[in-house]
Amino acid sequence: MSSLRQKACLAAMGVDIWVRRAREPDSMTPPRAPRTSVAREQEPVSAATPVPTQPLLDWETLATRVADCRACELHEGRTQTVFGTGSRSAEWLVIGEAPGAEEDKRGEPFVGRAGQLLTSMLGAAGLPRPQVYIANILKCRPPSNRDPKPEEVTSCEPYLFNQIALLKPRIILAVGRIAAQNLLKTQTPIGKLRGQRHAFGPEEIPVVVTYHPAYLLRSPGEKRRAWEDLLFARQVYESLPAR
Ligand code: URA
Repeated sequence: MSSLRQKACLAAMGVDIWVRRAREPDSMTPPRAPRTSVAREQEPVSAATPVPTQPLLDWETLATRVADCRACELHEGRTQTVFGTGSRSAEWLVIGEAPGAEEDKRGEPFVGRAGQLLTSMLGAAGLPRPQVYIANILKCRPPSNRDPKPEEVTSCEPYLFNQIALLKPRIILAVGRIAAQNLLKTQTPIGKLRGQRHAFGPEEIPVVVTYHPAYLLRSPGEKRRAWEDLLFARQVYESLPAR
């Protein structure tokens, strides 16, 4: 985590960088802990979420099905659906809430201001955007960016579950309360979901939860915690047995 690029990204995020001091060989003083610590609840804390079984569609059929979807009222106000983007062999899946205005216009997730921050954060954590797959709980923009309604989530989540089944990610980063609570089927507040390893689906794919970048734009003081979450996610990923 000490390359120039990462430092530049962290600076852009407004996150200070700490370098662990080298231990004095003869000193009995333990090295000082960095001011931010990464949560260490490595054991999965939530049971695997039951995922509805449906016939699995291939990527192209699924993308067409999403583009043509009229299952909920959100299709009426959309410019286009936002399917997801990134490498279809990615080991990391980032899941957000729903497209905003810019995403609705461009057909790609996380390309507005919040998306730019997310992209910087992922890059700083050694996860350049083309190497991860990014999708949302909802494929259409809710009006005025309101929270998704439960029936919209119910209509739309089979598409996401199909994406997960095709991608088979090694780890999922759930970005924001809406993504985390819907993915994990819980009402637990995001502050309690952070710092723990959760599990998704019968394969018990590890899930790590972090704040939404739109929230970080409003509360820049929380960027440090989001950075800890990314480091924790990396730690979980690196602890996985080789595939
Ligand atoms: N917020 C999200 O949760 N997803 C996007 O794609 C854009 C903003």
